[in-house]
Amino acid sequence: MTSHTWTPESWRSKPIRQAPAYPDVAALADAEEALRRSPPLVFAGEVRSLKADLARVAKGEAFLLQGGDCAESFAEFSADTIRDTFKVLLQMAVALTFGGASPVVKVGRVAGQFAKPRSEAMETVGETSLPSYRGDIVNGSGFDATSRTPDPRRMLKAYAQSASTLNLLRAFAQGGFADLKRVHQWNLQFVAGSPQGLRYERLAQRIDEALAFMTACGISSDTVASLAQTDFYTSHEALLLPYEEALTRVDSLTGDWYDCSTHLPWIGERTRQLDGAHVAFCQGIKNPVGVKIGPTTTPDDLLRLIDALDPGNEPGRLTLISRMGADKIGGVLTTLVRTTAREGRAVVWSCDPMHGNTIKAAGGYKTRRFDRILAEVRAFFDIHRGEGTHAGGIHIEMTGKDVTECTGGAQAISEEGLSARYHTQCDPRLNGSQALELAFLLAEELKAERDMKGTALTIAAAD
Ligand code: PEP
Ligand code: CO
Repeated sequence: MTSHTWTPESWRSKPIRQAPAYPDVAALADAEEALRRSPPLVFAGEVRSLKADLARVAKGEAFLLQGGDCAESFAEFSADTIRDTFKVLLQMAVALTFGGASPVVKVGRVAGQFAKPRSEAMETVGETSLPSYRGDIVNGSGFDATSRTPDPRRMLKAYAQSASTLNLLRAFAQGGFADLKRVHQWNLQFVAGSPQGLRYERLAQRIDEALAFMTACGISSDTVASLAQTDFYTSHEALLLPYEEALTRVDSLTGDWYDCSTHLPWIGERTRQLDGAHVAFCQGIKNPVGVKIGPTTTPDDLLRLIDALDPGNEPGRLTLISRMGADKIGGVLTTLVRTTAREGRAVVWSCDPMHGNTIKAAGGYKTRRFDRILAEVRAFFDIHRGEGTHAGGIHIEMTGKDVTECTGGAQAISEEGLSARYHTQCDPRLNGSQALELAFLLAEELKAERDMKGTALTIAAAD
């Protein structure tokens, strides 16, 4: 398919995986039409800013922080939930910017992260088999035939929830909440007394001192916009293609197609087939796109995927999200990173340390051990240091809530403790305290990467 013949519906002639079977096709057509008539959720100009920011990441000049729920839910929708996730992402960004001395590109898994791929199309309990739950945008999680029947009207509810979520996030990002003067107020109550919370508080005090010095020099959030506000972008898996297609619009300034449901759509590990519908859809949109890269990926697969999604080798266009598992990352990722570096591909490499480390705990809870998550992150940085490439970003499932979904961390959540506050709609998330602990580790790793580059430059200069 050339870029001349691409249309938002081109994907419909390709083989598709993970698509819900909607029994009511008339209702599906109505919902698509209603979405097509609705305003875009994001503006192409914002999408281009994100691409420019990601181009800096690709060049090794910034770091991508991407996080949020595994799946957003209709029932858990609240201003407090959005605010607390935003606070933790701001705290993480502070740790990375100050500790790691790196600009941070902030992206939420939010305002559209509803659709979920499933390993089985049907779920069987006793004698009854029903379609699997595919996220609130598709069907309901209750195990009864009505809930599980895919209902296209859910797309309209997801759109409305995404619109109000984005509205609040824009207000937070631009309206004073993200002003560096408020750095102390981002510490969440349940985190504040923990070792990470105290470490964060010390960092915040140093920032205060730096701000006081800068104010004395005439630089403050009253005079410099970047101290008073921040750029915050959204992302989700572009899995439910009727929804993505209906929100794909021509930008009047450039004449290009943009998926205006989100700034950064990504393709999941289960739907990244080269000749499949999801790749076909993402080929024609100008957004930056992500793609999950799992442990079975060969260098050849990867290069073909890059050719398909980023034929122009445009910095910022493609983010490869490695999700290997702590045990597998060593062998696989080294070869893949070496391949993209050797071939001169201007991609961002980001690390998803969550999806390759999911296990079943006693009691049936899906969980992830925090030490395995950290092990994968360390290995990711080690590999990039070894190859002389940039460890570009992190992709995590997290929440600002005090949940007990991943074991370990400073709170030492045990398998027995998981049931206390296990609230996730889908995969286990880091809580605010674990997310902050991870951010401090990332800051140290980023600093080590910078120190090594500094040493390399000094040696080069001396030569
Ligand atoms: C996800 O990010 O929630 C997800 C399903 O990931 P993956 O495609 O890597 O399995
Ligand atoms: Co997940």
